[in-house]
Amino acid sequence: MTELPRRDPGLPGHPRPLAPTFSSSFVVGSGKLTPVTSTGHSAVGHHLAAPGSRGKYGVDGGVIPFLVYGAALAALTLTFVQQRYRRRRLATLGGLAAVAISGSAGSYFYSTGRGKRSIWTEILDVLALRGTEQVLDIGCGRGAVLMLAARRVPEGKAVGVDVWRLRDQSGNNRAMTERNAVVEGVSDRVEVLDGDARELPFPDGSFDLVVSNLALHNIRDTDERTVALREAVRVLRPGGRLRIVDLNARSYVQPLRDAGCRDLEVHRLDWRTWCGVPGHHLDLVEARV
Ligand SMILES: C[S@@+](CC[C@H](N)C(=O)[O-])C[C@H]1O[C@@H](n2cnc3c(N)ncnc32)[C@H](O)[C@@H]1O
Repeated sequence: MTELPRRDPGLPGHPRPLAPTFSSSFVVGSGKLTPVTSTGHSAVGHHLAAPGSRGKYGVDGGVIPFLVYGAALAALTLTFVQQRYRRRRLATLGGLAAVAISGSAGSYFYSTGRGKRSIWTEILDVLALRGTEQVLDIGCGRGAVLMLAARRVPEGKAVGVDVWRLRDQSGNNRAMTERNAVVEGVSDRVEVLDGDARELPFPDGSFDLVVSNLALHNIRDTDERTVALREAVRVLRPGGRLRIVDLNARSYVQPLRDAGCRDLEVHRLDWRTWCGVPGHHLDLVEARV
């Protein structure tokens, strides 16, 4: 099958991008989400395989994976005990629960690992970066998205900021992220800084692209999250682009519009963001300043 061009619509001479493989898209008009008809050019499957990574990116969600594994173990134990006492029905129920929970655990690990990289590979490819951009990843953690961006800007820079909360990602710390940049072969263009999304340590208009994956929802207070969104917009150059993937990220649309963003779009992401719960999904918000 011929590969069709996938480019950002804002670049001169570039056609509108293919519909990403996300399950459904919305263009944001006057505060209302309107479904967009598919172009029929979806590259489904094209990017399912995330690039092989040499880095170690940990697991998102702190205790969640341990809870899921604990539940699977409990269900398995129940199965064995009930089988021993010949309680077939309970043993079957325990077995079914163990299978379901193990499937959920598999989906969780996929979403926070390979699935995340697969989604961001698509997002970054559609942007068609020139390779000279200054990119900022807010709440970069161990750098799964940061390194993907860094690969695409050999003559630019990819900067990550984080407050390194262990409850959000296992083994989360700056040294770990810097080590990942070295093993991925991109340390010449990666910089990792301590910094809070609500007070970014950069002057206005420093970046061509700001990205953030599963970080801003950790700021629980709505007003403070709005401050963080404004910060993301502040550090973008005129014409700069913003891509945020998060839980309920469609709620970021209005604050982003208030902060001066245009060309706002929301995509409901597909099964790769189920995180162990079929039907659960993350949103991608796209914007430009
Ligand atoms: C689930 S992890 C995701 C990390 C990374 N974006 C990724 O996709 O691998 C959430 C990250 O957000 C960071 N974070 C939480 N609150 C933050 C804040 N106020 N400012 C900057 N980073 C924050 C956490 O420390 C953590 O690294």
